Amino acid sequence: MALEDLIKAVDEQLLSVTQSSVPVLQDASHHILAAGGKRLRPRLVLLANAAVNGPTPADAVPLAVGIELIHTATLVHDDINDHGTMRRGRETVNARWGGTVALLTGDFMFTKVYQLMATYPGEINAILADATATLVEGETLQILASKQGTLDRDTYMEIIAKKTASLFVAAVELGATIAHAPAGWVTGLKDYAFNLGLAFQIEDDILDLSGDAETLGKNAGIDVAQGRGLAVAMQGGRPSGNGVTIELANDSLPAVEGFGDSLLEAVTKGREKAREYADLAVQSLDVLPASPARDALRALAYQAVNRDH
Ligand code: FPP
Ligand code: MG
Repeated sequence: MALEDLIKAVDEQLLSVTQSSVPVLQDASHHILAAGGKRLRPRLVLLANAAVNGPTPADAVPLAVGIELIHTATLVHDDINDHGTMRRGRETVNARWGGTVALLTGDFMFTKVYQLMATYPGEINAILADATATLVEGETLQILASKQGTLDRDTYMEIIAKKTASLFVAAVELGATIAHAPAGWVTGLKDYAFNLGLAFQIEDDILDLSGDAETLGKNAGIDVAQGRGLAVAMQGGRPSGNGVTIELANDSLPAVEGFGDSLLEAVTKGREKAREYADLAVQSLDVLPASPARDALRALAYQAVNRDH
């Protein structure tokens, strides 16, 4: 089955598993799930499966659904934490239904992953559990570092490895493990996904600084205001960003009180770093046999650092 057909199956299953007799849970889940999104993590599951010659691609579909449900649940909770008002081009769940319903909607989607994974082997469930615990740790470290003004570069890298790269790694590990891939191939895929995750999050933080909300489909310019993200880390951390004002300048880089030219430096250096990690990701795939799936994984790495949303 072609990748886009599998993604269609993922999209259908995302909606069917989040049906509920409590209308608001279903409505709020479908509101965010049907808004689209890049489906990057499900693609990683499916492409990793294909890249190791997985004999039955359909077996990887529920794993791709599980990964996307975890990711979407974290976004719903993240938007509560960040007071986000826009996500995937729509109002956030918290903006539309309030923080409490958003909390419960994230819980609902996250809990559905257990149901979906119940018949899968323990090692598959362990991969998902480890990655989810790690991303909660990353999000918590971020909140603490931004509150305490201790977000230096090392802490930033630890945070993005945990909050973003962990789920990317789990995605490829799931796709490869279900296909009983040789250990060397799994390691190559995990190295790829780890570096891709770092590249992706650095680019995401650059877009928070330089992108506009309409193209991004989500709020922009909130990292500095909240004392976190790439630019703050480049400054070696700073006291809580509460009260910092951001104005979008007409050259599309925001003017931020107290940041001056260092914002431009953050974007320039960040871009370099993101490209370095994307190159590392691509190189990690050399251990895999040549295939259209491997080519597609390589292309994803370059897309991650050349995007406007
Ligand atoms: C997006 O980062 C957020 C994450 C990658 C992780 C958030 C994790 C939680 C809120 C923990 C919730 C856990 C469960 C199990 C539901 P970002 O704010 O930099 O990205 P953004 O610009 O897209 O908002
Ligand atoms: Mg956020």
